Amino acid sequence: MILKFIKRMKGCEALKVLVVGGGGREHAIVWKISQSPNVKEIFCAPGNAGIKKIARCIDIPAEDIKTLADFAEKERMDLTVVGPEVPLVLGIVDEFEGRGLRIFGPSKAASQIEGSKVFAKKLMQKYNIPTADFRIFNNSADAINYIDEIGAPLVIKAEGLAAGKGVVVAREKGEAVSAVKSIMEEKVFGNAGSRVVIEEFLEGPEVTVLSFCDGKTCVPMVSSRDHKRAFDHDEGPNTGGMGAVSPASTYSMELAEIVEKQIIQKTVDAMAKEGIPFKGVLYTGLMLTNKGPRVLEYNCRFGDPETQVVLPRLETDLIDIMEACTDGTLDKMSIQWKEDRAVCVVLASKGYPGAYEKGKAIKGISEAERQGAIVFHAGTAEKNGMLVTSGGRVLGVAALGKDEEEARMKAYSAVSKIEFEGMHYRKDIGKVL
Ligand code: AMP
Ligand code: GLY
Repeated sequence: MILKFIKRMKGCEALKVLVVGGGGREHAIVWKISQSPNVKEIFCAPGNAGIKKIARCIDIPAEDIKTLADFAEKERMDLTVVGPEVPLVLGIVDEFEGRGLRIFGPSKAASQIEGSKVFAKKLMQKYNIPTADFRIFNNSADAINYIDEIGAPLVIKAEGLAAGKGVVVAREKGEAVSAVKSIMEEKVFGNAGSRVVIEEFLEGPEVTVLSFCDGKTCVPMVSSRDHKRAFDHDEGPNTGGMGAVSPASTYSMELAEIVEKQIIQKTVDAMAKEGIPFKGVLYTGLMLTNKGPRVLEYNCRFGDPETQVVLPRLETDLIDIMEACTDGTLDKMSIQWKEDRAVCVVLASKGYPGAYEKGKAIKGISEAERQGAIVFHAGTAEKNGMLVTSGGRVLGVAALGKDEEEARMKAYSAVSKIEFEGMHYRKDIGKVL
């Protein structure tokens, strides 16, 4: 501790940091960490072609937690930061901490808040945290009877992780019944669908609030808004997210205060009372209904693409905040944000969110950056020295502006410089509530 303090006074902490993951979210995390004067070297496993420019990419999959811990031990990593949910739910934090390695993220038990929708709903019910009314079912016959009884609209959710595809908003009874059949009988998400949550259908604008947590203190970040549907005007299938803005225009200061006290701090207190304190980033997905804000979901990590609009607005050194979260000293931190607005437009491959093509040459990134945008890579790779597509979501083009219109103009003028075969993107990011 004293040595760390002396090193920090000299501005030479010289940390080695490992970031786990390889999407747009992890590019934004690595990009922000690379601005810290206390960081000497950044590694990323597995990373992508954009991350490679600012970190050393290591070919270890994000889910291979034992090999990642071996690597962090051998390379004497000072801090590991975990992007995606799968390694967290598998227990990467317990594995690292068991070996005395420092890691930013929640334990396996605390990650259940995302890993099990049944756990999350029961927690909210027990601690009176506002959310949609719900019932839990462990067999399809009972679930279908219930649907028959109460009718549509309804929301059907597979209990476990389903890569963002486990939620069906059913406008009609038949749709709800087929969702239950495919989740519980055909087992399209495997064991993640052994139980389902059937929820009351809520209406209103959605907001994402990410919060830094150290187990007892939580500090909400600036708000953001994801755009989940594939096409303009919120049409088409759900995706991992086609773009984001920060702040969410519908989220007033007054609402933010209510949400912080009645939802986020209450959740962190509830987890501590259950004996599983939450450390890391808590993602709270909210719907602002006419009866007040309701929790739609929790995630145990940064959002993607929300991180690509939130971190560019962060003034404070991200590493300082992450160390405060792991050390339990978040109450001593003062976290500053830029007043600027941020917009991020996701460029996707033809066919996404269904089956998509890979290996298409990507052109125009330098020109896009010259428009003042930050181009975060998601599904990109290098093939014979050429930048090519390698995923459904390929790039996230983010820009800051003094207002949302300026940020949007900058982001879209940068997008117009980029090309790859089959590229598609939404033209209305920030225009729908
Ligand atoms: P989730 O992964 O739980 O956030 O759900 C994905 C999306 O489904 C959300 O962003 C909402 O658009 C929608 N959704 C989830 N729960 C509800 C609900 N109870 N009522 C209406 N829409 C919902
Ligand atoms: N953007 C939604 C998520 O990160 O889960």
